[in-house]
Amino acid sequence: MEYVTLNNGVKMPKLGFGVYQISKEDCERCVLDAIKVGYRLIDTAQSYFNEEQVGNAIVKSGVPREELFITTKVWIDNYGYEKTTNSIMASMEKLKVDYIDLVLLHQPFGDYYGSYHALEDLYEKGKIKAIGVSNFYPDRLSDIASFNKIVPQVNQVETNVFNQQIYAQKNMEKHNVQIEAWAPFGEGRNNMFSNETLIKISKKYNKTVAQVILRWLTQRNVIALAKSSKIERMKENFEIFDFEISDEDMKKIALLDTKTSLFFDHQSPETVDMFIKLIKERKNKE
Ligand SMILES: NC(=O)c1ccc[n+]([C@@H]2O[C@H](COP(=O)([O-])OP(=O)(O)OC[C@H]3O[C@@H](n4cnc5c(N)ncnc54)[C@H](OP(=O)(O)O)[C@@H]3O)[C@@H](O)[C@H]2O)c1
Repeated sequence: MEYVTLNNGVKMPKLGFGVYQISKEDCERCVLDAIKVGYRLIDTAQSYFNEEQVGNAIVKSGVPREELFITTKVWIDNYGYEKTTNSIMASMEKLKVDYIDLVLLHQPFGDYYGSYHALEDLYEKGKIKAIGVSNFYPDRLSDIASFNKIVPQVNQVETNVFNQQIYAQKNMEKHNVQIEAWAPFGEGRNNMFSNETLIKISKKYNKTVAQVILRWLTQRNVIALAKSSKIERMKENFEIFDFEISDEDMKKIALLDTKTSLFFDHQSPETVDMFIKLIKERKNKE
């Protein structure tokens, strides 16, 4: 495993296992399999509703706590100083840990300043080892990094061959914030796994398209989160540190960039509306 050193000196694995869209029923098994394969960075979120199952796997794995790197994210519904503090204590209980390695604010909407201050205070108390944000596009990232006591350690944004985040990464580097990729495979959208350029490159290195994608990210110093519910694919996705993509092939992959999200644009007002609707729907279900 390769590591990055965050702006506060904390070491973070360059490759992790994400549990978005893994059901409560399947999550404990998936995380146990991932840990068995060798993953040490596990990425969950309050809004994935599987923190408890991640916690069960952490306990059952028998791997010493200090070898694991656990990330969770605060959902917008829990924004504001008090609610964020309480929600993180609840996450910690579900995860069955007495500290969390990295806590991110999941979205750049609502009272994210109040929440960020809660993260800073828990960080200073040692309850969180690193703090950060997610989906903070360059304007919001510069904002939060410039007007707070602690510069975020990480910003997790959609990053894949079709949405490469080159400018966003430069801006993060300017602020000393580490970029982390969600949806490195774009959840399979845009026929990523059958892209001709990627297939050609993968054959050259005797690797799969998935391995080329994850290697390309980590070679760009982007932390990559891969998700699979199948142990064979977990193994495949983990075997990326035994080859190097040449500069020439890195340039070919660079040409695939459309600078457009495969999902939604966090800077559009429709996205804000979408999240507000989601929050209301979830409240109505409670
Ligand atoms: N911060 C945010 O807003 C945010 C948003 C989305 C995701 N995330 C994080 O990022 C993680 C990864 O993103 P993601 O889960 O959305 O999508 P992803 O990793 O881009 O794609 C996952 C999909 O790819 C398939 N897959 C995995 N490995 C494969 C392989 N080697 N060959 C072929 N198909 C493969 C999986 O299918 P199988 O499971 O069937 O193998 C699954 O359908 C998440 O789990 C989550 O932790 C964060």
